[in-house]
Amino acid sequence: TNRTFTMIKPDAVAEGNTGAIIKMIEEAGFRIVAIKKVQLTSERAGQFYAVHRERPFYNDLCAYMSSGAIVPMILEKENAVADFRTLIGATNPAQAAEGTIRKLYAKSIEANAIHGSDSDENAKIEGDFFFAGVEQY
Ligand code: GTP
Ligand code: MG
Repeated sequence: TNRTFTMIKPDAVAEGNTGAIIKMIEEAGFRIVAIKKVQLTSERAGQFYAVHRERPFYNDLCAYMSSGAIVPMILEKENAVADFRTLIGATNPAQAAEGTIRKLYAKSIEANAIHGSDSDENAKIEGDFFFAGVEQY
């Protein structure tokens, strides 16, 4: 068993899709290790997505990710990182497979409903960005 990190993004939270998305996550066999609802500042969103600093969409991404509340979570399952990326689908919802969270709930390549860590190493870094050790159980 291992862990991944996710956050339900501002578009999905604002539209009232938090519960439906969490239901899909639990039905896919993930256990919620940590969960909360927060709003990032643009600066803090920029720190989270620092890897994309040189990309043309970086400023838009920081504005979008700080535009409303998000729901970050740490999740546990065997093969968590890869299985969660499969559950959420492609970055661009137009290319996401049927039945994936992004196919069902994403609005655009930017407002794409949900994040999923891309490696075990980043899952740990990203989970620790939002949750203190005593919150991870
Ligand atoms: P995350 O799980 O959020 O990391 O998505 P990803 O791994 O599928 O995509 P990536 O890490 O490449 O991009 C991070 C986020 O930047 C995406 O989820 C989108 O919200 C946004 N993004 C990616 N590509 C584009 C783009 O071409 N234009 C815009 N406006 N936003 C983009
Ligand atoms: Mg990514």
